Amino acid sequence: MRTALIAGNWKMHTTVSEALTLVDGVLGRITLSDDREVLVCPPFTALHAVGERLRGSGLMLGAQDVHHEAKGAYTGAIAPGMLRDVGCRYVIVGHSERRQIFGEDDAAINRKVRAVLAAGMRPILCVGETITQREAGDAASVVVGQVRAGLADIATTDALVIAYEPVWAIGTGVTATPSDAQQMHAAIRAVLAEWGTAGDAARIRLLYGGSVKPDTIDELMACPDVDGALVGGASLQPEGFARIVQYR
Ligand code: PGA
Repeated sequence: MRTALIAGNWKMHTTVSEALTLVDGVLGRITLSDDREVLVCPPFTALHAVGERLRGSGLMLGAQDVHHEAKGAYTGAIAPGMLRDVGCRYVIVGHSERRQIFGEDDAAINRKVRAVLAAGMRPILCVGETITQREAGDAASVVVGQVRAGLADIATTDALVIAYEPVWAIGTGVTATPSDAQQMHAAIRAVLAEWGTAGDAARIRLLYGGSVKPDTIDELMACPDVDGALVGGASLQPEGFARIVQYR
């Protein structure tokens, strides 16, 4: 009932020509099937060129961040409509690097989620606890709190995607165990059932992110509440990303 989504978050990597080489490498190695969607999220500067290259390919384009206003005097910012204009279907919102390095709080992230939905795109709302919070036994309450705050006053919609990305697993080579991921995803789905109905919650896709690699994807995707992955480092290597997309 949920179509899997494998998303590559390229972060602050690739010039335009490197981005085109990377996307060609991915396109040359994957065969798309109906049971999964594949998304790449290049940096802003490469979106247009990559979007043109992806036209008609079935591979989708997404952005890594957005500003919540539609236009105006916001030097350096990119509006939702600009992303849609270059072909973005998804926007990553509230990544832990945005929260930690750029100081985005739950209220700012909530505004971005709304702006993405209002522009007719799909937000990928990222949530996740730090190692200190996990060791203190607060992982579930932190994550549930981030989900609730991110979705505050937003009408239930299955355009939403949530990515559970434990901060201690991002870029560290340490992946959450499938059972940790499944447990947190089930907790998130329970919150979504309060946000809408159990039926609504069952339609919303929950991705796992944090050091997803070709050798960990299969067991993660075998978890009943893991509907896809948000892949950072491994999405910069066409062979590895293609293997992740072709999880079994
Ligand atoms: P990673 O990054 O796969 O390099 O851990 C994931 C992410 O930050 O989305």
